[in-house]
Amino acid sequence: MSRVAVIGSNMVDLITYIDRMPAQGETLEAPGFALGCGGKGANQAIAAAKLGSDVLMVSKVGDDMFADNTLANFEKFGVDTQHVTRVPGVPSGVAPIFVQADSHNSILIVKGANAHLDAADIERADAALAECGLIVLQLEITLETVYAAIDYACRRGIPVLLNPAPALAGLSPAHLARLDFLIPNETELALITGRVVDSMDAAFAAARELTALGVRHVIVTLGEAGALYVGAEGEFRVDGRKVAARDTTGAGDAFIGCFVHHWCTGGDIRRAITYAVAYSACSVTGLGTQSSYPDAPAFETFLREIGFE
Ligand code: RIB
Ligand code: NA
Repeated sequence: MSRVAVIGSNMVDLITYIDRMPAQGETLEAPGFALGCGGKGANQAIAAAKLGSDVLMVSKVGDDMFADNTLANFEKFGVDTQHVTRVPGVPSGVAPIFVQADSHNSILIVKGANAHLDAADIERADAALAECGLIVLQLEITLETVYAAIDYACRRGIPVLLNPAPALAGLSPAHLARLDFLIPNETELALITGRVVDSMDAAFAAARELTALGVRHVIVTLGEAGALYVGAEGEFRVDGRKVAARDTTGAGDAFIGCFVHHWCTGGDIRRAITYAVAYSACSVTGLGTQSSYPDAPAFETFLREIGFE
């Protein structure tokens, strides 16, 4: 099993469960609230760690009461925090999240300390990163740092995975071309390629455009419809799993964490995607982000329940 490095964000999720969004000037009572550990980078790291991966996190926390909690959370799940450092005088990243009764969500992110992670932090983590078999990135740190991480991974010959979330247009083709794995959802795929992605055929066509650019493996997550793959292994689709959704927040991160875990433990790509679809489906049945990610035994139980083969 190879070690996984996540170079990315951590946030404190401020989750409000709502009946509807208040109009401007309106005060509305909401039925529930929960505070949780989140941030796309941290979510992916924790999902992989809960499944048994050995994970190194490279990230920044702020100078506030949230920082200790985030560090303690990483440690609780065995994530290596030697390169999670504090930024004096800066708040930790936070994400006010609104979840509607139909399980869908709206998210605001305030990067805070995450915006301070830079190329020098990656160089400082060199000895630890060089031991890793995969570097995992998202877009909640600055784009310059993401590019620096891709350059670093190429220089060191370490495979690199980008989950281009939250969605951002105008990513540099030269950097995309150097990715081993690019894992967008449909919205992100549309923004990256500048194409309309409104059908399965359109999603396959857009994914092909990215492999033509040089990406080795493109995996598009399709929510309830599962995922599709275009790349060195050919083309295929993995069907979604029908579950009773309660909170879809962090489902994409659950997918990435599980995919990474299975790929780094020697699993083939199709199998890793099949597990990741199931893991992400399991996560939407629970409230919150990391709090809804099953550990290995709980995931085994879920797999038995859905008749996974
Ligand atoms: O992908 C879900 C995550 O997005 C949340 O945990 C929130 O922190 C935002 O980063
Ligand atoms: Na969830």
